[in-house]
Amino acid sequence: MSKPAEIVILTGAGISAESGLGTFRDVGGLWSRYDWRDLATPEGFARDPAFVLAFYNWRRERVRAAEPNAAHAALARLSARWPGGVTIVTQNVDDLHERAGSRDVIHMHGTHLTALCASCGARWPAPAAMDPADPCPACGIAAARPDVVWFGETPYHMERIAGALRQADLFVSIGTSGTVYPAAGFAAAARAAGARSLQLNLEPPRKTGLFDAARQGPASIIVPDWVDEMLG
Ligand code: APR
Repeated sequence: MSKPAEIVILTGAGISAESGLGTFRDVGGLWSRYDWRDLATPEGFARDPAFVLAFYNWRRERVRAAEPNAAHAALARLSARWPGGVTIVTQNVDDLHERAGSRDVIHMHGTHLTALCASCGARWPAPAAMDPADPCPACGIAAARPDVVWFGETPYHMERIAGALRQADLFVSIGTSGTVYPAAGFAAAARAAGARSLQLNLEPPRKTGLFDAARQGPASIIVPDWVDEMLG
């Protein structure tokens, strides 16, 4: 009896699109309406913290109003019933995986749920509306920022992710354009360690040869279909 496969799943904004949360690079995506240099870099935050905090307050409110969709629910079902390990790594800062029942989700780009003190590194639950004048509950300095990883910063939990990719028998990429590293390199890393790779996305893979298989369609349809096949 061969050991049940270890599955590593990477999700991106596309898995939350049908929950009403915008993606970044689709037509009408966030980076077609806002300049990422102003909103997703430490330099942009230093230039205008009030503008950046207002943007994340707006996104936090959108996430609070959103509901997980059938794709999030299907991954929670897979994690609960798959006999091997299932590791979900997400680039998303929303908590829709958790609200669908997934546990121990690895948020490599951080999460909108927590605030971070740029001065002492303390973290606390983000209030509905963060303000540049908010004092850090630990050091008292007004240096609160969203606990999200901006361009030019180091994603979180990379050691743990690298370990999971080394052990993976199957790597599945869901709802991500595969344009932002290091996440964009995970498929190649998993394959180099012997894993098969599958993409579930609205669009076909940007690069040929990266995935052994690829299925196109909305995540709320193709992810539950794939999970049903996996669970037999
Ligand atoms: N179902 C499945 N896939 C979808 C759907 C859907 N309903 N809608 C869009 N997609 C796909 C798009 O085809 C695209 O390939 O989701 C992907 C979204 O790509 P991006 O907008 O680039 O989002 P993502 O890959 O998550 O971005 C990575 O970039 O700006 C940074 O930190 C930010 O985490 C983000 C990172």
